[in-house]
Amino acid sequence: MTHKSTTPPRDEDGVRLDGVDADGAHRDGAHLDGVTVRLGGRPVLRDLSLTLTERRICLVGRNGSGKSTVARVVKGLIVPETGRVRVHGMNPAERSAEAVAAVGFLFQNSDHQILCPTVLEEIAFGPLEGGLARAEAEERALALMRLHGVAGWRDRPVAALSEGQRRLVCLLAVLVMEPKLLVLDEPYTGLDIPTRVRLARFVAGLPQRILAVSHDPETIETADRVLWLEEGAVRADGPPATVLPAYLDAMQRAGAQEEAAE
Ligand SMILES: Nc1ncnc2c1ncn2[C@@H]1O[C@H](COP(=O)(O)OP(=O)(O)O)[C@@H](O)[C@H]1O
Ligand SMILES: [Mg+2]
Repeated sequence: MTHKSTTPPRDEDGVRLDGVDADGAHRDGAHLDGVTVRLGGRPVLRDLSLTLTERRICLVGRNGSGKSTVARVVKGLIVPETGRVRVHGMNPAERSAEAVAAVGFLFQNSDHQILCPTVLEEIAFGPLEGGLARAEAEERALALMRLHGVAGWRDRPVAALSEGQRRLVCLLAVLVMEPKLLVLDEPYTGLDIPTRVRLARFVAGLPQRILAVSHDPETIETADRVLWLEEGAVRADGPPATVLPAYLDAMQRAGAQEEAAE
């Protein structure tokens, strides 16, 4: 199901849509080339090569298949043992200010993300770290909060928010940095259905490229591309109409087999 083509797709101006410049440089999207990651002595990603330039990519697979590891490699939080990673032409593991700003990362657990006591401080934290004066950083945070109708939360303790509200705050704290690529690790897991639907709708309206690890059916169905990982390698890769039925079928069968083996 992997798409291979000898002539890369181009837009009407002749610019390659796969993010590779005429000189072969990867300036757009995320590019993994022969990436191998071992954690605790075990191979977690096995010689993985991916060109991630679609607007909406959904990463699916069973627990432990390596989805979060791919997300962390793209953000530069994990340095692969072998292989090359380029995100918008930069090595994210070098943690240059430009590379850090290019990729916004939403952790699976909001508690791993939240650094500040109040909502305004949390959303202003990135711009402040980036060198803006406090007043400017807070104004930028407030402008974004106003845009999304949550300016009233400014002095609320982050700890007092619901899980769905906390996730939105974390997302705004990421968006305030105006990243080019958003990496979301299970942004909807653990939310009730109305909260999930609202947050998913919010995410769907964002202009950024998004790589999302998600089990949310709507997120998978509306993706431009679904990547199915199994034991650190790509099991299937293609549009949701092709990958999703095969994935769901395999998951149903795995569930039935594991039940029978118990
Ligand atoms: N820090 C770590 N040390 C050792 N093994 C790890 C570590 N983090 C993840 N793993 C292992 O790597 C594999 C892939 O993990 P992960 O990328 O988190 O999978 P997923 O997100 O698909 O559930 C799992 O088998 C997991 O147990
Ligand atoms: Mg995970």
